[in-house]
Amino acid sequence: MPTSTQPLVLVYGPYNADGLAELGRRFDVRHLASRDPGELSEAERGEVRAVAVAGHLPNAVMDALPALEIVGHFGVGYDGVDARHAAERGIAVTNTPDVLTEEVADTAVALVLMTVRELHHAEAHARSGEWERKGAYPLTRFSLRGKTVGIMGLGRIGLAIARRLESFGVAIRYHNRSERTDVAYPYDPSLEALAQSSDILLNVAPGGASTDKAIDAGVLRALGPDGILINVGRGSTVDEPALIDALEQGTIAAAGLDVFADEPRIPERLRNLRNTVLLPHVASASRDTRILMGNLVADNLSRWFAGEALETPVPESQDAGLTSRA
Ligand code: DGY
Repeated sequence: MPTSTQPLVLVYGPYNADGLAELGRRFDVRHLASRDPGELSEAERGEVRAVAVAGHLPNAVMDALPALEIVGHFGVGYDGVDARHAAERGIAVTNTPDVLTEEVADTAVALVLMTVRELHHAEAHARSGEWERKGAYPLTRFSLRGKTVGIMGLGRIGLAIARRLESFGVAIRYHNRSERTDVAYPYDPSLEALAQSSDILLNVAPGGASTDKAIDAGVLRALGPDGILINVGRGSTVDEPALIDALEQGTIAAAGLDVFADEPRIPERLRNLRNTVLLPHVASASRDTRILMGNLVADNLSRWFAGEALETPVPESQDAGLTSRA
């Protein structure tokens, strides 16, 4: 049991090393890398006042910690934490928006370019010596010229992507739960309508029940045989078996994916497809950005225990008035 007067923070599951070190500078830390709460003594469970987590935190773990006050989620998408359940128990939840926006937007644009211009295959062609042995890499079927990109989820990251893509001269449209009044991009009232009017459908929407498998066979049919899907949001938003069928059968042309339904597992059929670019969920994964994310988790916990207003409480906590400890 800790002897210092710092609050005990449970770091649940694998966690960024810089972020872990930052928490260690400010708090007593117990790192449960195994995610097995059975490894905690009853005394430790009773001492934990905060949890830091990157990904899924089961409600049963929250419920097994009687002194828990706050959960700091490392990542902007907090679909792995049941923030409503936490609020019912008076537990605040924070996430890490803004600090990763530009990094994720950079990666999204890179993924668009890689997928459209087959840069991953072209790179392999140069690296393997095929250029010398067999000649030039074939001309690509697609170009960004004259294309329309439809963004599903025009929030902070979606806007940062749209700003970048504007400079490429592509047309931008979007679909959100409701139309924004502060942007000039055309709005499509349904995801299917957005897919229909886009060459490239780019998903940035968060995970959770409201977006679960929203990109289904019908949306992919609407995107069409020359259509490209890019996903930097959540894998859960796509009906993955339907996507694999669509890619195999030419219902859509190609996909660039940074997120998957059951990470880190990627179905073999998807891995075998040449018309895909597959990234291992790296949109925000630079050391600089991850340090900022880890610092923001720690800042929120510090503010909470100092009785100050949280920097980035999630909406469910705001609605429940869980924005400071005082
Ligand atoms: C997030 O922040 O939600 C990202 O997916 C993590 O890289």
